[in-house]
Amino acid sequence: MARVLLTGGAGYIGTHTLLELLAQGHEICVVDNFDNSSPEALARVRRLANHDFKVIEADIRDRTALLAAFEDFRPEAVIHFAGLKAVGEAEAKPLAYYDTNISGTLVLLDVMEATGCGRMIFSSSATVYGEPDYLPIDEDHPLRAGSVYGRTKLMAEQILTDWCRAHEGTSNVLLRYFNPVGAHASGTIGEDPQDIPNNLMPYIAQVAVGRREHLSVFGDDYDTRDGTGERDYIHVVDLARAHVAAVDYAMERMGTEVFNIGTGNGSTVMEMLAAFSKACGRELPYKVASRRVGDIASYYGDPGKAARLLGWRAIHGVDDMSRSTWKWQSENPDGY
Ligand code: NAD
Ligand code: WQD
Repeated sequence: MARVLLTGGAGYIGTHTLLELLAQGHEICVVDNFDNSSPEALARVRRLANHDFKVIEADIRDRTALLAAFEDFRPEAVIHFAGLKAVGEAEAKPLAYYDTNISGTLVLLDVMEATGCGRMIFSSSATVYGEPDYLPIDEDHPLRAGSVYGRTKLMAEQILTDWCRAHEGTSNVLLRYFNPVGAHASGTIGEDPQDIPNNLMPYIAQVAVGRREHLSVFGDDYDTRDGTGERDYIHVVDLARAHVAAVDYAMERMGTEVFNIGTGNGSTVMEMLAAFSKACGRELPYKVASRRVGDIASYYGDPGKAARLLGWRAIHGVDDMSRSTWKWQSENPDGY
């Protein structure tokens, strides 16, 4: 069992991971400034897990606060979720994104170094591959992030890799997530977007509860099975378990290793809408709209390396993703 500090642990992926880590007996400290989350999410995890954990309300860019947290908790490993993630907003506010995602990571590494913590598991994104040369995308695919958000992830990966190379005995696991969706089966924790959702699943879920009139399908003339965009959706509980496997891996091995975290299968927008309609028991309204700028026809990964080295693979399909999202959304129509 390890002492693990989670930056951004109150967020969507953080809370699901926290629950899985507690179930495995790990000792946890969450550091979050609640910029995009609520303390209520952590209260619910505490009840679900029936285990306690530390929570420190702090900004990862606040070196003094972060140092105090590290000196008190003495983590053996860090999972670094904290960051800003809205792709469109990042184009309008690049400095805010570089500040949180890059400066925040630098402060974190500085504090890890000062307190002798040498194991990092980082939330990266499959967006670092950019427009794919081939499918499925493996970890050797060229890197060419096509957005400000993607560049913050790519730069953070490079910083972490340089840090790890320079410090013998450190471990750096870079997890490149495909499209995380779904919720815990209990329906008590899930994704809670603050504004109009940018992403497909939360948008469909809000249509299903009547908060939005219809889904706009961004283009039906792509070169895919039905003309709509195809993505590798990964259930957040599977993703959470990948972090547990990554912690175990980092406790045993040194150096940098990068893993795709996805299912290896693509689903189209229409397939996701059909799966959700089945889960909620009615046909959901949609209108075909124009393509969204920057969108790609098909994007899915090869998760084989994670299976070989982490012993992890996704077990949930799109029906589980839709059912759990529906349970979360219908039981918490206004979020936390
Ligand atoms: P989220 O917004 O739900 O969680 C991020 C958490 O970080 C929030 O609780 C937020 O309050 C906290 N945070 C933000 N800035 C902070 C700061 N300066 N100091 C301390 N805490 C701060 O997002 P998520 O979906 O759970 O994503 C977690 C990580 O995974 C992010 O780094 C994101 O970029 C990455 N990621 C997400 C997706 C996705 O589609 N959800 C895909 C790939 C990668
Ligand atoms: C999925 C599909 C849309 C909304 C984004 C980020 C990526 C990663 C995951 C963080 C596409 C279509 C969507 C809608 C639609 N995040 N769509 N109507 O764009 O694959 O990835 O989230 O790292 O970096 O870019 O996900 O959920 O936005 O879109 O038709 O209202 O759904 O065109 O084909 P995307 P998404």
